[in-house]
Amino acid sequence: MSRKRTAVLISGRGSNMSALISAAQSPDYPAEVALVLSNRPDAKGLERAAENGIPTTVVDHKLFSGDRQAFEKAVDDILKEHRIELVALAGFMRILTPYLVDAWANRMINIHPALLPSFKGLETHERALSEGVKLHGATVHYVSSEMDDGPIIMQGAIPVLDTDTPDTLAARVLEVEHRIYPKALELVASGQAKVSGARVETGDADASGMLIFP
Ligand code: GRF
Repeated sequence: MSRKRTAVLISGRGSNMSALISAAQSPDYPAEVALVLSNRPDAKGLERAAENGIPTTVVDHKLFSGDRQAFEKAVDDILKEHRIELVALAGFMRILTPYLVDAWANRMINIHPALLPSFKGLETHERALSEGVKLHGATVHYVSSEMDDGPIIMQGAIPVLDTDTPDTLAARVLEVEHRIYPKALELVASGQAKVSGARVETGDADASGMLIFP
């Protein structure tokens, strides 16, 4: 089996990156993490990736004086140098332009800490609490040129409790993220996930992706 060479793009602590690295340690997992790229030199996740023997690189967006396309070209060049086939965004805090998104259409995925299409953008847990939703969760989706948009591959849900604060909710959603991201990447890398218009067909390959705790 040829494992898909996957780059994980991060900006911070990289806990989702670690979940993907752990899953890819299994020899029958259809993706290998071949590169971890950060736009921030101080991203904690870089150390963790290096400890796992994974090549790391930094493309510091601050060195491109606001020229988003030049930044994205530098990223794209590195992805090509490393013969990357799939890109997984994992807390990569840059808004991407169509330049990079189109180049990686149907080959770039992202994880978002909410049940899309609700709560796009930041502070999803605060907003879920203030809107009073009873279910919250996380979504893995293909990346399109609209932020936090694109065909949904997998979602995981948890109940919102009366006692929840943004922090307790974030912690439980993060656990869901660590469960669904490796499963979603598996569906994409194995070719089981097929984009059909706005939807992703998985042949119900993994109904256990619909996680509702407890
Ligand atoms: C996660 O909540 C992810 O959903 C969001 O950014 C956060 C990154 O956390 N896009 P980590 O760096 O993976 O720990």
